[in-house]
Amino acid sequence: MRVCTLVGARPQFVKASVVSGALQRAGIEETIVHSGQHYDDALSAHIIEELGITQPHTNLRVGSLPHGQQTGLMMHRLDAFLDNAGQFDAVLVYGDTNSTLAGALVAAKRHIPVAHVEAGLRSFDRSMPEEINRVVTDHISTWLFCPTSSAVNNLSVEGIRRGVFHVGDVMLDAVKAFSDLAGRMYPLHMVTRHSPGTYIVATIHRPVNNQSHARLSRIVDTLGHLGNPVILPAHPATAKALESLAVPESVEVIGPVGYLKMCTLIRHAKCVVTDSGGLQKEAYWHRVPCVTLRPETEWPETLQGGWNTCVNDNPDEILLAVERSRPEHQQPFGMPGEGTASEGIAQVLSKYWQRNYMAE
Ligand code: UD1
Repeated sequence: MRVCTLVGARPQFVKASVVSGALQRAGIEETIVHSGQHYDDALSAHIIEELGITQPHTNLRVGSLPHGQQTGLMMHRLDAFLDNAGQFDAVLVYGDTNSTLAGALVAAKRHIPVAHVEAGLRSFDRSMPEEINRVVTDHISTWLFCPTSSAVNNLSVEGIRRGVFHVGDVMLDAVKAFSDLAGRMYPLHMVTRHSPGTYIVATIHRPVNNQSHARLSRIVDTLGHLGNPVILPAHPATAKALESLAVPESVEVIGPVGYLKMCTLIRHAKCVVTDSGGLQKEAYWHRVPCVTLRPETEWPETLQGGWNTCVNDNPDEILLAVERSRPEHQQPFGMPGEGTASEGIAQVLSKYWQRNYMAE
């Protein structure tokens, strides 16, 4: 079986790091294509190297463009690549980025079955570009690999019931695969001068938060009043927006950190404050309370027991949520899933292949 995987943004490299290994073990031949959506080494090349992912076969080098142009250029270049790359039995895409949408659309129009990893997630907010990408991709996918039962339910409500597999969360596979290595390679004292439980990790990169000067300024100002130092590894777009803001002294803005260092930072943090989907879950798996800087989350499971709280940009709301995020406010922890999602995905694809082609 030959699979073409399209990746392009930081979280997709993390997911590919575990899924690609599982595909290989199942005897599936994978060709990785990088869309070039993320082009900073800190968001792309360094992560690919640190997690030992097979180097992408090619890079479509689309870079930053308005959404329509970025998605269109990816489609144009992926189509041209597929023209010359021989027959693929599936195109695999991850998550909800413009790279996900572009890969799914090109494949579906070429009648190549689409495998969507992280299918069925919904914020129910169609002003988010990611929500549009999720909905469209799910509706044209052949295999929908869901991380949670709420994702399976979301698809069912939209009438998608065939090809849906509740395999678990590949990001949990990654946490399980890399946590020990992160602890050995980057003990806390190598990553920050702060001691365990005395600092907060924050990330901000959603357009809703980093594209409004007033909103970003309110959030960052509030981070300065949390009573603990805040480490803020900034996405390049956020770093640029922060240049014109007065950042409080207790907020340490640093460049993007690698996956392993981030793992260490989260694990020992007092609390995580973020608008990232991935970090909400990683905080949960590391048993660290999280405050999400968005009115809703695609991961309602993390809200149970008070492990995650969604807030808007109201300073009092943020302060109260962080104050309440002390461990005594959380209920006992129930880790969802086994960390075997990647193997589940590889098995489904390889069974399909055997059923359809091995008999010939
Ligand atoms: C994308 C995804 C988001 C994902 C995130 C992970 C979409 C619609 N969004 O958002 O779902 O959670 O990646 O990081 O696809 N930029 C750089 N260097 C880079 C990449 C981006 O400076 O390497 C800046 C550019 O100024 C660009 C802006 O970030 O204009 C937005 O970039 P974009 O490619 O849309 O991705 P993200 O915002 O990172």
